[in-house]
Amino acid sequence: MEEICKNWSTWLKKTRFSYMNETQVAQTLNWLFSIRDTVIDMAEIKSGQKVADFGCGSGLLAFGILEKFKNDVEIIFSDKFIDCLDECKKILETSNTPSNVKFLQSDVTDIKLENDYLDRALTRSVLVHVKDKLPAFQEFYRVLKSGGYYCAFEPIISENTRYYELLDSSLISDYEDFKNAETELMTNPVDPLVNFSAYSLDKDLETAGFSNVLVNVNVAQSKYIALPDAIKSWFTAPPGPGQKTMKERFLVYFEEKKVDNFIREVINALSDKEIEVNTKTALIKAVK
Ligand SMILES: C[S@@+](CC[C@H](N)C(=O)[O-])C[C@H]1O[C@@H](n2cnc3c(N)ncnc32)[C@H](O)[C@@H]1O
Repeated sequence: MEEICKNWSTWLKKTRFSYMNETQVAQTLNWLFSIRDTVIDMAEIKSGQKVADFGCGSGLLAFGILEKFKNDVEIIFSDKFIDCLDECKKILETSNTPSNVKFLQSDVTDIKLENDYLDRALTRSVLVHVKDKLPAFQEFYRVLKSGGYYCAFEPIISENTRYYELLDSSLISDYEDFKNAETELMTNPVDPLVNFSAYSLDKDLETAGFSNVLVNVNVAQSKYIALPDAIKSWFTAPPGPGQKTMKERFLVYFEEKKVDNFIREVINALSDKEIEVNTKTALIKAVK
């Protein structure tokens, strides 16, 4: 797993889909495209504006903007990691690289752009990988013109259904131990994946100086049949390159034998059963 998880562009292209069948991949892509369109619509981009997709990865938002606005806007593909920008460049070079497209290697907490440069700053599933959200918001605020918008989509992982909520405690030998460990892991203040809520995003955006802050929370309830391979992947698929899997996170608390037994029992308890999970996300809009 570590091998195929070398960098973000590989993770975005391969690893995140590795445990899915064709139907699930198609559903996930449809879901991503609908989020892309929602964020772009929310940004109300106008002709002649300067727009950046920060943490662009494989360019979900940036390519969406390019498709919609052609050369009517300046589009900056920006990411902390060069492999993502190279991947986007490769895609663009198959057609002609338009002159209104720019590439910027930058961390969102230290953006290599002058003050008041952009009309729109966009992100999708980037803050969730950034340990301190406030410095990123302060940077978005700095590089936006007065009246410019920051628009984003972020998963609120800390408030999703937890594994222990899906389990019948009588079927799991160390239920209480794993429930306590999962609770601690999902509220860890130094883990970028879970160290924020809709409320803290709202507060941090206001602290950074934004006004008309909107953090629109959506809870999607989905019911599906849990297949054994998919359940296994909950514990073995990393949430990003170089990031710890859930199994590795549990290994901080327990010996491997105990963790493996827990995973086996979870697979036995839930395989081929219908499960219902809540997934929380937020659409964000804020004005400088
Ligand atoms: C889950 S991917 C999302 C990619 C893309 N926005 C999308 O919607 O498909 C997270 C992206 O954030 C980038 N990233 C992570 N930490 C970053 C940081 N501190 N500054 C800028 N980009 C970052 C990663 O390189 C990766 O491309």
